Amino acid sequence: MSPTGGLRSLPLMTSDAANTRWAAARSERGRSFGAVAADYAAWRPGYPSELVAFLAGGEHGHTVRRRILDLGAGTGQLSESLLAAGHDVVAADPSADMLAQLTARLPGVPTLVARAEDLPLPDDDVDAVVAAQAAHWFDPVAAAREFRRVLRPGGAVGFVWHMRKDSAPWAAALDQLLAADARDQQGDRPEGNQAVVDAFAAQLDAEVTIRTVRWVHRVPPEAVVGRVASSSRIALLDDAGRDAYLGQVRELLATHADTRGRDELDVSYLTSAYRLTPR
Ligand SMILES: C[S@@+](CC[C@H](N)C(=O)[O-])C[C@H]1O[C@@H](n2cnc3c(N)ncnc32)[C@H](O)[C@@H]1O
Repeated sequence: MSPTGGLRSLPLMTSDAANTRWAAARSERGRSFGAVAADYAAWRPGYPSELVAFLAGGEHGHTVRRRILDLGAGTGQLSESLLAAGHDVVAADPSADMLAQLTARLPGVPTLVARAEDLPLPDDDVDAVVAAQAAHWFDPVAAAREFRRVLRPGGAVGFVWHMRKDSAPWAAALDQLLAADARDQQGDRPEGNQAVVDAFAAQLDAEVTIRTVRWVHRVPPEAVVGRVASSSRIALLDDAGRDAYLGQVRELLATHADTRGRDELDVSYLTSAYRLTPR
């Protein structure tokens, strides 16, 4: 990483050596979210309700109350939606700082400072294990073993990720600027989230179903900066690096013809949810 935190691109990783590098980066960066917990709580988007229902194992509008582990729950974006849909939620994350934000927002949700690979839950305890923007941080072998242990018979695993595939010119310019951060968003692997799903499906011997929703989040420009400020990449920068990184984002929004002088911006998301049902 450059000392000034510039947006230098990393080479794409395609080999076994790259996977080893990714495992090391996963461990370091996956631990880093506590440093950006407040930005995360303030600025990260939630999830479309039909995907929340899908992940919980039901249909939109027909909730069967379930006990759900939200893993890598962070500041509670998905927990909040699961709770609102009528489920019992237990939230787990290795970052106590992230969970403190979750508790401030959702005081009734029990929390566990825990990693996917070592869950302090009894056997056959939950109807679903879900992870939003988080499964790419887990070790598939150790985590899948834990998922099998804590899931009740008939239970399932659900993963969801936002993909900022926005065709608006300003959003494309931002994506280009944040090329390194975009890889963080998708698990930092050239194969993307599908490879993460495939790895877990193999470990769980699971059938996979997918649902994708395109939606728009209307936000003030500062929310776009805040979203970048909450990335794991930012969490690893010093103050000067962070200011330089975010300065480039502010500069783009202040000068791009589509965003200059605007009070609100439409951020388009393509959000994909994967349900893995062990056979
Ligand atoms: C990008 S945040 C997602 C937070 C939240 N689920 C959301 O939808 O916005 C990823 C979270 O995964 C957590 N995490 C990283 N490694 C993990 C692991 N091995 N087991 C469980 N959670 C992990 C991080 O602490 C962080 O809170």
